[in-house]
Amino acid sequence: MKLLTASIITTVTMMVLLLAGIQTVKAQSSNWTIPSYTDTLQIPYPIDKDLIADGHKIYNSNCQTCHGNKAKGKGPAAVALNPKPANLTQKVVQNQKLGNLYYRVSNGHLDMPAWKSSLSSKQIWSVVVYIKSLTNKDLLANK
Ligand code: HEC
Repeated sequence: MKLLTASIITTVTMMVLLLAGIQTVKAQSSNWTIPSYTDTLQIPYPIDKDLIADGHKIYNSNCQTCHGNKAKGKGPAAVALNPKPANLTQKVVQNQKLGNLYYRVSNGHLDMPAWKSSLSSKQIWSVVVYIKSLTNKDLLANK
């Protein structure tokens, strides 16, 4: 009898762990595809220190509640969201073209708001450049 109880407990524990595992994968893999024309979308403004500074301000007032002050996805509002706000410093985000990020920020997805109605096109480009500047030191030189 003791053996049976032990094996039931083990089975239940395994099932709980399995379900928890599935839940985690789901939360991190929102399927957000964007049109390929955004690969060649060109920023219509010079990439300079002023643009990055503007982007930083826009980020602090509109994005950090969810994405966090270090852009790692850990803002105070993140707890309630599923999928979680992206860590904007990670490679999957940083390796995207400026045009890809411009499209994502403009149009949003699930809990990520669409910013094109509340921010100007220049403000969206500036925040995207700011995000890229977090890990890309050569941004000013390379454009
Ligand atoms: C209400 C919370 C919230 C706010 C505010 C918010 N975001 Fe997000 N953001 C999210 C969530 C949630 C996701 C993940 C969406 C998904 O995976 O479907 C996301 C995803 C993104 C992505 C896509 C990353 C990737 O995986 O390619 C970018 C870029 C981004 N946000 C930038 C911004 C910027 C810039 C702002 C401010 C102008 C902002 N976000 C404001 C919640 C938020």
